[in-house]
Amino acid sequence: PNVDVAVIGSCMIDMICYTPRIPTPGETLCGTSFELGNGGKGANQCVAAAKLGARCALVAALGNDVFGLKYLEHLKGAGIDVKHVKLSEERHSGIAQITVTENGENCIVIVPGSNSLLCMEDVKRADDVLLKSKVVVFQLETPVTTTVQALKYLKSKGKCTTILNAAPASSELPLEAYILSDIFCVNEIEAGQLAGHIVTDFDSAKKAVAFFKSVGCKTVIITLGEKGIVYSDSTGNPVHLPVRKITPVDSTGAGDAFVGALAYYISRQPDLPFKDQIQRSAHIATESVLNRGTQSSYPTKEQLPKELFDS
Ligand code: RIB
Ligand code: NA
Repeated sequence: PNVDVAVIGSCMIDMICYTPRIPTPGETLCGTSFELGNGGKGANQCVAAAKLGARCALVAALGNDVFGLKYLEHLKGAGIDVKHVKLSEERHSGIAQITVTENGENCIVIVPGSNSLLCMEDVKRADDVLLKSKVVVFQLETPVTTTVQALKYLKSKGKCTTILNAAPASSELPLEAYILSDIFCVNEIEAGQLAGHIVTDFDSAKKAVAFFKSVGCKTVIITLGEKGIVYSDSTGNPVHLPVRKITPVDSTGAGDAFVGALAYYISRQPDLPFKDQIQRSAHIATESVLNRGTQSSYPTKEQLPKELFDS
């Protein structure tokens, strides 16, 4: 069967501590609650697209441990093709230690573990699904060399649209990554780290868009949280799209909800103008900020207004 969205990326076990604020170095802070969740930017994006109704496949590496086995069952339950999710004997499943504050902000430490073992052989082995996919999505929690090789491979073989979500930002991101991906998407922090100046608003984001274009990006999207989204397709000037104002509960994984939704729209509603694809994806990402957790906070098609799926 054909695949709408394939994700080549990470799975992490999210260990989420809810606290009044971010602790300072050396401080012990008492949190208010704890949750264990299924995360990792790659899997999050895949689940976000699947919850909207896309046919999804994931190429990833979990550890052959209690966490990994449980995660695999969860992915199957979400209707995702997991034929190409491998279980490693050498490394533990990836872990994300997440702190979420009372005003919905978060900070994350990841230990990639098995995710570091995702290699080009895994990608080649998955070409039965990859070459049938309409959209293939990447992030940077798995080896960047695999990402670049896979982007090259898909460029030479496939007809798919590729999205590179350069998160977390890597100082080792090779120039090829910018050139090879069709859509390059980052948040304001990653944009700042990669472009070399602080990104907070439309003007600074515009400057970052110019930088990304100068190094070879085609379409660029920068998400600015509550300040909206700045995007620019291959020909156009940067456009600023505001997002609706809400009181945030937990913004963890909102960027992944956006990327997953965008992959959904590009594959399932390709005739929708790009601006609408972005705006609707932003709506879905905002929705996820109203609930705790990452994947558990992503809305299903049934939970969303019908208009989001009109052609
Ligand atoms: O983008 C959010 C994700 O980043 C979390 O689920 C966590 O696993 C980290 O990878
Ligand atoms: Na959330």
